[in-house]
Amino acid sequence: MKKKILITGGVGFIGVNLAYHLLSKTDNFIVIYDNLSRKGVEYNLEWLKSLKYKNLKFIKGDIRDYKKLKEVVKGCSEVYHLAAQVAVTSSVKDPLDDFEINALGTLYLLEAIRKVCPDATVIFASTNKVYGELLHLKLKEGKTRYLLTGKTKGISEQENLDFHSPYGCSKGTADQYVRDYYRIYGLKTVVFRQSCIIGAHQYGNEDQGWVAHFIIKSLLDKKINIYGNGKQVRDLLEVRDLINAYQLSIKNIEKCKGEIFNIGGGVENTFSLLELIEFLERNLNKKIEYEFFPWRPGDQKVFISDNTKLMKDLKWKPKISAEKGIKELLYWIMENIDLIKNVNR
Ligand SMILES: NC(=O)c1ccc[n+]([C@@H]2O[C@H](COP(=O)([O-])OP(=O)(O)OC[C@H]3O[C@@H](n4cnc5c(N)ncnc54)[C@H](O)[C@@H]3O)[C@@H](O)[C@H]2O)c1
Repeated sequence: MKKKILITGGVGFIGVNLAYHLLSKTDNFIVIYDNLSRKGVEYNLEWLKSLKYKNLKFIKGDIRDYKKLKEVVKGCSEVYHLAAQVAVTSSVKDPLDDFEINALGTLYLLEAIRKVCPDATVIFASTNKVYGELLHLKLKEGKTRYLLTGKTKGISEQENLDFHSPYGCSKGTADQYVRDYYRIYGLKTVVFRQSCIIGAHQYGNEDQGWVAHFIIKSLLDKKINIYGNGKQVRDLLEVRDLINAYQLSIKNIEKCKGEIFNIGGGVENTFSLLELIEFLERNLNKKIEYEFFPWRPGDQKVFISDNTKLMKDLKWKPKISAEKGIKELLYWIMENIDLIKNVNR
């Protein structure tokens, strides 16, 4: 039987990749719910529409509209909740807006599901920012990066929660509600605490999506602003590997419901900001200009996801290396540079 699947934030970067995956692999009915507030996502919607899938429906709507959500979730058997205010910087400027979208919006959605389609599986895109600045990590400062000396496998789900920045607080609140709706109401929820995700259809800017942002600036011969010393390290995960993990968790929902998973590229797929610039200089064969500015609040010096739980429970591991992912993103941005210029204007 055909399923009705809802993706909130479904024309954003991760959402549009997920929608494409579901549309191309199944004939399920895919409903996207998004208020189009992120600059550039209208192009993702255009792209998706141009593929002419008959089983796709787009609804323009806000995650804070509880009444509308109760209508939209009717008959859903899967819900992917990706809609969010995604930038730490914007959350600092307007913490109320950030809280209403990320925390309250998630609660509205959970309530709508509980009341209307309580048997639905719910996947929530949380973030590694719930672990805060991780000041206790033992680090060494190398020439191009900070090195993790203690926890060599990275950060696991056992790490203490330490919400830092309004974005960290609002996403962390949502993360805990999603988990608790399993414990209290029995909703089949799964939380993914995501590291840095990369891939096509990502309109990175200075506030969010740093890998895409650095590539765009480099291609447009514009100077990159680096906040901190550029030695901060992140693990990078290609979006199709993330989607694969979402799918595996749904297939194994009896085992995964109520669970939280850290997910990222892991120790084998890390880059510092300076190393990405150097990688781009090599691949584009040109010098990239950059300038240093003070650190941003709560910025982790190193975040590397320990994916052991996902590997153990779901036999999942990243298949696309960070280098391959960056190169593919580079080609996608090159092909779409005119459109991206409009978004960055
Ligand atoms: N991209 C990453 O590296 C990353 C890392 C960790 C967590 N996440 C989480 O994954 C999810 C998706 O991120 P993304 O990178 O695709 O971001 P994105 O900004 O590309 O997508 C978010 C989408 O949500 C929509 N949206 C924003 N506010 C809304 C509202 N009030 N109502 C309805 N729709 C709204 C936007 O228009 C956008 O299309 C987010 O929840 C984000 O916090 C992303």
